[in-house]
Amino acid sequence: EKIVLSYSGGLDTSIILKWLQETYGCQVVTFTADLGQGEELEPARAKAEMSGVEDIRIVDLREEFVRDFVFPMLRANTLYEGQYLLGSSIARPLIAKHLVGIAREVGADAVAHGATGKGNDQVRFELAVNALDPSLKVIAPWRQWNIRSRMQLLEYAEQHHILVPSDKRGEAPFSIDANLLHTSTEGKILENPAEVAPDHVYQRTVDPVDAPNTPEVITIGFERGDPVSVNGKAMTPAALLTKLNGLGGRHGVGRLDLVENRFIGMKSRGIYETPGGTILLAAHRGIESITLDRAAAHLKDEIMPRYAELIYNGFWFAPEREMLQALIDQSQAFVSGEVAIRLYKGSASVISRTSPCSLYSADLVTFEESAIAYDHHDAEGFIRLNGLRLRRWAARNGR
Ligand code: ARG
Ligand code: SIN
Repeated sequence: EKIVLSYSGGLDTSIILKWLQETYGCQVVTFTADLGQGEELEPARAKAEMSGVEDIRIVDLREEFVRDFVFPMLRANTLYEGQYLLGSSIARPLIAKHLVGIAREVGADAVAHGATGKGNDQVRFELAVNALDPSLKVIAPWRQWNIRSRMQLLEYAEQHHILVPSDKRGEAPFSIDANLLHTSTEGKILENPAEVAPDHVYQRTVDPVDAPNTPEVITIGFERGDPVSVNGKAMTPAALLTKLNGLGGRHGVGRLDLVENRFIGMKSRGIYETPGGTILLAAHRGIESITLDRAAAHLKDEIMPRYAELIYNGFWFAPEREMLQALIDQSQAFVSGEVAIRLYKGSASVISRTSPCSLYSADLVTFEESAIAYDHHDAEGFIRLNGLRLRRWAARNGR
């Protein structure tokens, strides 16, 4: 018997590690992913070693995360409930994929995670594991043990001589999840949606009020729907998103204070910071605006909420998500070119766009004299036929 644990090295998963070892008496393999959370990962190795873990996996997944998860999602201009860029939701299937891979490699029969029994993350991890390897068991300690709150968790740590960092002693911490796409913060004072979030919850963006008084213009290059360069410089997916996080963060771009509907059935309030993702969403819509056909663009917009919900609810590896992805990907064949974005006091605005595959025709749309064959009389018939049923309807209503 072996268990592969998704292990951050933080307090929660350190306690889970100890609990798994005690409860199951078997070997626990730890898996720590570098998703660009901006934390040193070597301390996780040291802590796992101290807990007697023999097989410690620390893997840099930043490029895979952005290339195979974040960018495909951005191709759809994905937002959950109109606002959330799904920074935590999209990381879970990737972590699950690697948990499954390691489990197979080491011959483990179970994987374990530190998500609570009240949230979305448990669903996402487990649906992904189900889809990738139905033979694997999933252990979710938060649903099994008697610890019912973060305060009780701290007590358990003290009883088991697990080092609690001094800033976490005596008070339950925020629940924070960070990666290259976003930082999310939930819990504590934020649980009251009437309370204004204190400034110290923000970690990667400045308050727009304190952002530079001079706007900054940047350009983003796209190829077939994916961003490939910033200010003319080609970059790998992870490097590009890292760069935009820095630029956006400086200008206070991408803050969101949201009450959302969890899949499990409750509402929750969180603070999100998604500087690079917010810039990319605006830029992608900008390049699509001149390269996509109208009906194609509108069809994408229609399916987007459905696609977002699938990701939010944990169905990344489900057939219907893959079907929608195929549709989205096919639409991106000509989504190439360059967009200029102005960053200023919390906003990221498209100010120009160019493309070798543009559908835009100045000659067609111009208010001035045009060479292109467009017969204004055609519009008359177009409107007359579209108005036919409205005239009938109004007449029947006695207008
Ligand atoms: N509410 C967000 C979501 O469901 C963020 C979850 C954050 N996860 C965490 N472990 N703090 O996607
Ligand atoms: C958790 O419950 O572990 C975090 C929040 C969530 O998954 O929605």
